[in-house]
Formats: sequence, structure tokens, C-alpha cells
Amino acid sequence: MQKTHTCGELRKEHVGQIVTLAGWVHRRRDHGGVIFVDLRDRFGITQVVINPARVTPETFRLGESLRNEYVVQAIGEVCERPAGMSNPKLATGDIEVMVQTLRVLNPSRTPPITINDDSIEQDESLRLKYRYLDLRRERMTYNLTVRHRLVKFIRDYLDARGFLEIETPILFKSTPEGAREYLVPSRLYSGHFYALPQSPQQLKQLLMVAGIERYFQIARCFRDEDQRADRQPEFTQLDMEMSFVDHDDVLNVVEGLLTAFTEEYHHLHGKRLLYKPFPRFSFHDVMERFGRDKPDIRFGMELFDISEAMRGTSFLPFQAAHVKGFVAPGCAHYTRKQTDELTEFIRQKGARGLIVLWHDADGYRPSGAGAKLSDAEKQAIMRISNSQPGDLVLLAADDNRMKLNEALGELRHELGNRLKLGDPNVMAFLWVMDFPMFSFNAEEQRWVANHHLFTAPAEEDLPYLETDPGRVRGNQYDLVCNGYEVAGGSIRIHRRDVQERVMRVLGLSMEEAYQKFGHMLDAFEYGAPPHGGIAAGIDRLAMLYAGASNLREVIAFPKNQQAADVMLGVPSRVSPQQLEELHIRIAVEEEELTA
Ligand code: AMO
Repeated sequence: MQKTHTCGELRKEHVGQIVTLAGWVHRRRDHGGVIFVDLRDRFGITQVVINPARVTPETFRLGESLRNEYVVQAIGEVCERPAGMSNPKLATGDIEVMVQTLRVLNPSRTPPITINDDSIEQDESLRLKYRYLDLRRERMTYNLTVRHRLVKFIRDYLDARGFLEIETPILFKSTPEGAREYLVPSRLYSGHFYALPQSPQQLKQLLMVAGIERYFQIARCFRDEDQRADRQPEFTQLDMEMSFVDHDDVLNVVEGLLTAFTEEYHHLHGKRLLYKPFPRFSFHDVMERFGRDKPDIRFGMELFDISEAMRGTSFLPFQAAHVKGFVAPGCAHYTRKQTDELTEFIRQKGARGLIVLWHDADGYRPSGAGAKLSDAEKQAIMRISNSQPGDLVLLAADDNRMKLNEALGELRHELGNRLKLGDPNVMAFLWVMDFPMFSFNAEEQRWVANHHLFTAPAEEDLPYLETDPGRVRGNQYDLVCNGYEVAGGSIRIHRRDVQERVMRVLGLSMEEAYQKFGHMLDAFEYGAPPHGGIAAGIDRLAMLYAGASNLREVIAFPKNQQAADVMLGVPSRVSPQQLEELHIRIAVEEEELTA
């Protein structure tokens, strides 16, 4: 080893020892002819002192030549820092290493991003282009550490409970599920393609048919969908499947795992659970109360319903079938400009508009369109909403209740973020259950599966499968935390006849179904056990535990928002020979390609 200790290791008890450290120059300061170097590696920072009275003139000159990010090896004696000079912010702050010999292992150009000060906001495209430098930052090292701990914990926890970790192929079959797939052309089979898996869904079910009974995998998944802060084209799931279970068994494993991780690693991530056990909500209830199937329940601002109280109103906007709203606490100081902006926001989310009531010391201020409400109506609103002086009451109306809930839910979420109502040190997990199994896609005039087509319908809803698909509930569940969907799963169909009925509802002909999913249908005829499972987004969980603002912060080499890797220059062109081997001809013109 080229070092005897890490840069985070030395303490008072090492005083007097001769040690060798190696790392990067984090910062160099010259004080009265003495050079102080903060030497950094992944484990910490140690102050290294180059005193001209203690080293040769060459070594001192070498010390003077050091710049940020030079890689240096220093041999010296561990000394206690002089009285009053220790640095309580540094784990090694009681000591320093008095250099005897120094080697520059490699110099560095001036880094294009700041590495030694995490408080500086930096241009993300530069950070991604020089990711190997960005990852040297303390914050990023921390993020990767949290992620590592999470994955390690998962492996140990599930191993102790009889789960087997099994890898499934990345070169998979094209079976479009929800998102668009990434295709890989085959060289040996002209015109044929592999597809990268959107998830190991089908293979983990086949592992249940194989009798594995308890499976998990830290699985890479690929989806060619529009990018968002919480989406990456390739991402990682904790993928699980269990046989002979009902949904409580699956939920309990995941809840037990996340509870244990939150509590046992509190010293690392500083987060605590808001609710234990995790509360369970029906889809209907979360939509009615929070207007979102992934609500942030760290704060209240629940939706209330004034539809009944507005029956017979002469106020035109509230003559719609449904009138709902919520109270933004302490926001009565909002100006018209600010509320106009909220109106614009909720319009973009599908609402017709927003009616705002300012609650002053003496009731609702006669201001804006809401002033046209009668006194009795305003009193009813005050009673139902329970608004207090200083609050702002936000109301909207629509004949379509789901649309109204969703628009208000987005506004609630947005305001919750802006007002910083969610405690950043809290993990507010909740389960959402009892989803409708299908929704009707009006554009395509067909039913689509809300989770995926292998999800089992609720037993008691089976009779309605063909006659009234809209009323069938799926035996499926989502885990939500702080406004993000962190996991989703279901109890599966394990009988061929039921699977075929569901496929028919989704508009698949039996030929098509067999061509795409013949391997599943066949397998179900050889003693497939009842089974179910779930997959959790590792990136999303790591992001929440690390307190990061987007998934890119917890992925070593992520894609940017245009699904590109700017460091590698990916995606990239390939040579004509490669294309020829793959029997592929690029049909678009050169100019279109570069556009
Ligand atoms: P689902 O599609 O709900 O279920 O995915 C499970 C979890 O994976 C995470 N996730 C993502 N994370 C980052 N970027 C993405 N593009 C992305 N898409 C999804 C989310 C989500 O909750 N096979 C089923 C699971 C099952 O039924 O067992 C599946 O993949 O946290």
C-alpha cells in the first residue's frame, strides 16, 4: 500500500507515529513561511504541514508547487496541534502530520468545477461532463455511501429471511408494457431484436413457477420515456417476488426492511419515520384527500368538499357538480400577482380556474371573484374549511371530480414545496391500495392496465371483468414517500384462464397474446403457485435518504435530462461496418441526424 492510514483516520492516540498518507490537495495555505495542505481522500481530510525548518529546500519547493487536486504522498510524524489550533469540524482536527518527505504522484490541471466547497451551486452540465471530478466532492461521496449502505442492508436483510438473489437477462424480449423499449439489433438473426427489460417482471414470475419461492434482485431496468427529476432511462429496482403469499406478506417484508434501515442507519442519513406502521390508504381516499396517488403526507392542507354547500349558488363558477379546495396556512399576505400565478399553475394542471379567498382578522376580505359569493356561502366555506385569520383559501370547481382532485392535488403539492412544509428529516411512508385495475384510454378507445397485465383482479370483482372492467379493482399496491412513488407491486394472476380473460379486456387477440406472452401462458399450466411481489426504486429511495433533489445526485454516471451522457458522448454514431453486420441501414438524412 502506498499509504499507512486514510486521511480520515488519525487521532490523538497516533501522536508520535511516522505515517504515510496519500490523497488529493484539497486546499493549500501559506502562513508565515509554513505551508499547510489539507490532504483529502474518500475517508476524510488531514492537515499536512510543510515547515521549512524541518524539510530539505527541495521538499519545501515541491510543497510550494502544489496546487488543488495534485495527487500527493506525504510521509511524516503525527503531531498534536498547538493549543487553540485544533479544528472541531474535522474528525482529524486534533492532529496534523509534520512532513518529512513529499512526493507528487501526479499533478492536475485546474479543475473546471469547484471540488473543495459544496456550498457553491455549479453548472450541472459541467458537473456531468467532468463527473469523475464531481464525484470527488464530499456531498457526492456521501450520496454514494448512503446508496451503498441501502443496497448492502437490503441484501443482508433479505438473505436472512430466505430470499435468493438471482440475476435475469438484460438481453430480453420485446413485450411492450407501458414505456417505450430500448432495442438491441441481433447480428445472427437479421431483422430480429432483443429488448432491454423494463423490469424483470415476467422472469421473476417464471422463477416462482420454478419453485424459488422467495426471490430478489438489485435489477437494472430500462425505459425510453420522457425524463423528469425522478426518472432515468436506466434505473435500479429492488425487485422481489414471493410464492404462497397474500398482499400483507409482501407489504410486511418491504415495510420491515425500510423501517429497519431507517432506524438502524439514522446516524448516517438523519431521517426518521413519521408513521410506524406505515398508514394504508385506498386510492379513492388519497385522491379525495390529497388529490394525488403519491401524496406528500408530511403536511396537512387536505382537500375539503363544499359541493353540497354550493348547491343553488348564483356564483357561476361554482355551479359545477363538484367544488373543492384547501387552505394555504399563513398565506393571506399573497398579492394578486402571486395568486394569479397560482391560477395559471392550476390551469396548466387541467383546472378551469382558481377562486381565492383572503382570510383577514375580520373574515374573508372582499377581493377577487370570490367576493361575489353570498355571506351565507362564505360562512359555509369558513366552517367547512376551518380557515383561520391569516390563511388563504383556494377553491376550484369542475364536473369531472377526478380532474378536479388532480388539479387541486398538484397545486397542494406545489405549495407544500414552496412553503417548505415537509420536514426534510422525515420519511412519511404510506401504502396506497385498492386501485382500479383498468382505466379507459379515450384516445385509443381501449382499456389499459393501471399496473401491468399480470396483476390479479380482486377475487370478488372477477365476475365484472368482461361486463364492467371499470369497476374491477386490482390486487395491487404502491408505496409512497414524501410525494414520490417509491415502490409498486401486486398479487399476480397464476391461472391461464384468468390471464387470458384479462388479456382480452386489454384488447389482445389470443394469437397476439400467445406470440408475446406464450412463455407465461404455458408456464401457468404447469403448477404455477399463487404468487405476488413488488419492486422499489433504489434510486428514488437513495435520493430521499440522502436528501438529494434529483436522481442524478445518487447515480455515479447518470444520463442528463435529454437521456444523454455528456461525459462519454452517448448516444453516439457507429461505424458503417458495424451497421452492416447488424443489417441496419439509417434511413434519415445526415442533416436530420445532426439537427
Ligand atoms: P413499476 O413500473 O411501478 O413496477 O416500477 C417500480 C418502481 O421503480 C421505480 N421507477 C423508476 N425509477 C427511476 N426512473 C424511472 N424511469 C422509474 N420507473 C419506475 C419507482 C417505481 O415505484 N414490475 C413492476 C413491479 C412489480 O409489479 O413487482 C414494476 O416495474 O420507484
